[in-house]
Amino acid sequence: MSDKDRLIIFDTTLRDGEQSPGASMTKEEKLRIAGTLERLRVDVIEAGFPIASPGDFEAVQAVAQSVRESTVCGLARALDKDIDRAGEALAEAASGRIHTFIATSPIHMQRKLRMTPDQVLAQAVHAVKRARRYTDDVEFSPEDAGRSEPDFLCRVIEAVIDAGATTVNIPDTVGYNIPQQFGELIRRLVERVPNAHKAVFSVHCHNDLGLATANSLAAVLNGARQVECTINGLGERAGNASLEEVVMAVRVRQDLFPCDTGIDTRQIVNCSRLVSNITGFAVQPNKAIVGANAFAHEAGIHQDGVLKHRETYEIMRAEDVGWTHNRMVLGKHSGRNAFRARLRELGIAFESEEELNAAFARFKVLADKKHEIFDEDLQALISDTLFESEQERIKLLSLRVCSETGETPSAQVVLSIDGRECSGEAEGGGPVDATFKAIEGLVGSGSELKLYSVNAITGGTDAQGEVTVRLQKGARIVNGQGADTDIVIASAKAYVNGLNKILEPEARAHPQQGDV
Ligand code: KIV
Ligand code: ZN
Repeated sequence: MSDKDRLIIFDTTLRDGEQSPGASMTKEEKLRIAGTLERLRVDVIEAGFPIASPGDFEAVQAVAQSVRESTVCGLARALDKDIDRAGEALAEAASGRIHTFIATSPIHMQRKLRMTPDQVLAQAVHAVKRARRYTDDVEFSPEDAGRSEPDFLCRVIEAVIDAGATTVNIPDTVGYNIPQQFGELIRRLVERVPNAHKAVFSVHCHNDLGLATANSLAAVLNGARQVECTINGLGERAGNASLEEVVMAVRVRQDLFPCDTGIDTRQIVNCSRLVSNITGFAVQPNKAIVGANAFAHEAGIHQDGVLKHRETYEIMRAEDVGWTHNRMVLGKHSGRNAFRARLRELGIAFESEEELNAAFARFKVLADKKHEIFDEDLQALISDTLFESEQERIKLLSLRVCSETGETPSAQVVLSIDGRECSGEAEGGGPVDATFKAIEGLVGSGSELKLYSVNAITGGTDAQGEVTVRLQKGARIVNGQGADTDIVIASAKAYVNGLNKILEPEARAHPQQGDV
């Protein structure tokens, strides 16, 4: 494949994806996702916004230190302090990129930045030059390009390319554009900017009208050679273009697209599950490519057709995107080496033998309760192990619930809070309600439960239940997850996981809010 024909996949799950309320990730979680993205062979991983908080800085730095095959990128507003912080976080990357941005639409310049177009242009140029002090790989985004004046956009793009930007990204920040018009915009920019050939044109589309993938593809057909996207379409508000949809559309319709990606598509489902598992954002069953029904043929006429000749109703093969159909991978007689080997295949490595031993002990307990252990079970088990090791302040020590016809359900819970053991009990409308009341009675977090959902990880009545809770306290929203074959215990684990996150003191800046 020539360079011109390569469609660069820039994944922003760890940055824009993380801007979805409740999707914030810890450093360890980001590292796990980054490892999976690297195996998926994404070209660029946007790991975060280093100036946002010390935690964000450390996460970007850790990803930069560990990823070797993909370029690691850090976001920075067009401000010296942001750019310097991003440069510092990326210092040890094998290949590092700084992505700097400033808004160019009339409404953002007047109302948010309170700057004139000339001031914005000068600041964009200054930012790119400053970023070039740290790396030759500098991306510039005119935020809200989708609502910017094309003539002004051309001026800004020409100037930032002259200043050293090697990628120019055109964001449809508010998801306002329509495919034909967005494609036209990209074609006009590529044709009219005199030095356009010196940079890669990229797009970053939001899904407010459900058009993020369609807009991205229209842009590719009109000259864009980088698409910014996220696993499962995670992202601010309605999300970003979904990586799996963009990649598979380009792969399946090679008859139309003049380019292809370097993505190993067989890693897609694994990556989707991991992101869903870590963020607690379930994938809807009818979601393209990664939804549970994406390859299921219910109607008799379809099944008949697929059995006679699969291409009658299938445009791609489930195995090509990584569906393995609940393959039983391990059981109660599996040994430590088989356990370690399968986890390695799933992209999970342990930092120490103690960590491996702790996870293996949990695996044995699970295998006693559930005879067939699938990949999904292993992923949930590892997440649970990692959640617990991070749950510094509150730990669930034991839970006893009583639920009987005609009686009010009650729960007795023992927690360790900051190393101190305490117990409490409560009654509730059901066993989960009683459990949450007993826990909150001990913790006193003052948070509100905004969402509670249970999902069976695999089939069968011995399946593990995976519970997600969303908690809100003031402006802060977090998700908590827990898995267990007993769904009341899974619920308690999820609630404790959420409480640990909501009690963490963290002030974190949002990249697109506030003045420059
Ligand atoms: O949506 C957007 O405009 C962004 C920029 C920071 C690229 O996320
Ligand atoms: Zn965005």
